[in-house]
Amino acid sequence: MNRKYRKTVIAGNWKMNQVASGVKPFIEELKENLPKQKSCDIVLCTPAVMVPAMIKAGKDAKVAAGAQDVSKHAKGAKYCIVGHSERRQYHGEDDMLVNAKAKALLEKGIIPIICVGESLEQREMDLTMEYVSYQVKAALYGIDASALRRCIIAYEPIWAIGTGKTATAEQAQEVCEGIRTVIRKMYGARPARAVSILYGGSMNAKNAAELLAQPDIDGGLIGGASLKPVDFAAIVAATNQDAE
Ligand code: 13P
Repeated sequence: MNRKYRKTVIAGNWKMNQVASGVKPFIEELKENLPKQKSCDIVLCTPAVMVPAMIKAGKDAKVAAGAQDVSKHAKGAKYCIVGHSERRQYHGEDDMLVNAKAKALLEKGIIPIICVGESLEQREMDLTMEYVSYQVKAALYGIDASALRRCIIAYEPIWAIGTGKTATAEQAQEVCEGIRTVIRKMYGARPARAVSILYGGSMNAKNAAELLAQPDIDGGLIGGASLKPVDFAAIVAATNQDAE
């Protein structure tokens, strides 16, 4: 993390889990477990039907509501995930559509959380950085430096999502640093320094601190562990560590 130049973000991605009536009790339990002092922004991206409940319940716990996807023509929540590997894989979303969706969100004042990440085959073929660089360049195409300031990038290696296999802190740092280098080449040093890059893929209460201690990992995008208030609160607490 680097708190001087970037904000730290812990974002939960509930996918197709939870029910609307479970949002309030979840937030109450989360609130009881959160550290008094918080060093990060907290976001919970829920299925669309639960966004209103999250906006309401999240307010006094200072948890921002987010959506999990967006139509390239529609309105949405405060944050929205785009380009998640599960949408790329199961809904055939390509980089051009991810780019169009990110731009549509920015136009409406919504912060896109843009997901990128390689498959196991690509990693084994030593194509990780080429592939992720391509995804980042395509997703940011035509987005100017002032709009870039409102974007968040999430590096989620596909082989680590929902598998319990986390990238090592070194592997995750290497790619997040590489993403920042790509952004530096596109926009220059200052904008690159200011972009928050999250890691996602089996981040949990145990491994969060080590991942978040890496200089280019500015937070997490959390699936499974974001459904457990105590674990999610522990990940938030893991951002309370010394950083630059
Ligand atoms: P897990 O934390 O369950 O591996 O999910 C990661 C993810 O896909 C978040 O978007």
